[in-house]
Amino acid sequence: MTERLKIEHLYKVFTDKPEKALAMLKAGKSKSEVQETLGHVVGLDDVSLSVPSGAMYMIMGLSGSGKSTLARCINRLNEPSAGKILLDDQDICTLDEAGLRDVRRNRISMVFQHFALLPNRRVIENVEFGLKLRGMSAAERRKRAEEVLNVVGLARWGYHMPHELSGGMRQRVGLARALATDADVLIMDEAFSALDPLIRTEMQDELLRLQRTLNKTILFITHDFQEALKLGTRIAIMSEGKLVREGTPQSIVLEPGSEYVAAFTREVDRGRLFDAGSVMTSLSAILRGPNGILMGDASGQPGPGFMLDADERILGTVTASEIEHARGGGAMPRPDTHFMCVPAATKLVDVAGSYQKDNNGGPIGVIDDTGRLIGRLEAGQILARIGAAGAMGARHV
Ligand SMILES: Nc1ncnc2c1ncn2[C@@H]1O[C@H](COP(=O)(O)OP(=O)(O)OP(=O)(O)O)[C@@H](O)[C@H]1O
Ligand SMILES: [Mg+2]
Repeated sequence: MTERLKIEHLYKVFTDKPEKALAMLKAGKSKSEVQETLGHVVGLDDVSLSVPSGAMYMIMGLSGSGKSTLARCINRLNEPSAGKILLDDQDICTLDEAGLRDVRRNRISMVFQHFALLPNRRVIENVEFGLKLRGMSAAERRKRAEEVLNVVGLARWGYHMPHELSGGMRQRVGLARALATDADVLIMDEAFSALDPLIRTEMQDELLRLQRTLNKTILFITHDFQEALKLGTRIAIMSEGKLVREGTPQSIVLEPGSEYVAAFTREVDRGRLFDAGSVMTSLSAILRGPNGILMGDASGQPGPGFMLDADERILGTVTASEIEHARGGGAMPRPDTHFMCVPAATKLVDVAGSYQKDNNGGPIGVIDDTGRLIGRLEAGQILARIGAAGAMGARHV
């Protein structure tokens, strides 16, 4: 995957003369120490991250941790004090006026929490707004605006006034305006935070749906960890201007690494976060006979296993003693065909739900897209992953 946006050692101190503050930060002093000594507010303290093309990259952190400052530095609404911001390998920090204008009009779009629409202009004119600046003709602008209004589900609302729309619809207009420019990087700063929960969920689903076809590179800022988990391919967590943790949603829940990060993860519904494939134990072949394959736990521990056909599809479960018997030269056992199996992508909450109904207490087979057995799950593993991860977070204090 190529890196679309790369941030290297970025600092922002809110002053015209950041040198002393930068020296202090580079010497390991904190944001509050700089503020106490020099009176300067630190926005960003040595932030580095890379956003792959097509990623939904989440920036999280408490209020004042520097999320908006980071977003605003990227298109230089805030002037960075030091560091690099590479957009397709070009450093935005060194661009002249014309270069910067091009980036803001054509390369990076922003959507904010309270998206200000021009109240006296129709919805469609609001969407067209940025396009005029790009020198697009009136007819072309209208066509493009109609297209993107359709994309965000507001095709019939173009000729209404903004006050006739609900908050969620207005936020969609903001999204349409950002999409209209065709920029491949989208920065969304708390774009859904002001919406009520139902509309918010709807907008999240909408964004996921859009992203499947648009494949933009999206930097999404939120203070809501559930939102970050739902939307994010990667999550970066900020505190006091620093990036303190970065990784996949699952890795952050399993290994928060600090109490600050763990606190975000406590409320997470782990049953929905993890799927069978991420928790299963892999299996290894114990015996390949003419009538099938016996598979057991990769650990080699004696225990029940599966019997497969030649295509590695499950015929049924076999007991530990049946496996032992077959390994000792006995005939292939007759498998118990009352078993449960799930595709690897099944969420644990759904595995647990059908386990009660469908299983006779044996292991659950985990299969790939073609129906081949790739691993096994025990009830205990499911419970441990759904319940115990919070305790793991607490251990990192
Ligand atoms: N224009 C400014 N002048 C001085 N300090 C600023 C300015 N903008 C932001 N700051 C400071 O920078 C730090 C980071 O602020 P920022 O707005 O980036 O936080 P945030 O993570 O977006 O918070 P929130 O979740 O509340 O939006 C804060 O300490 C803030 O006081
Ligand atoms: Mg902010």
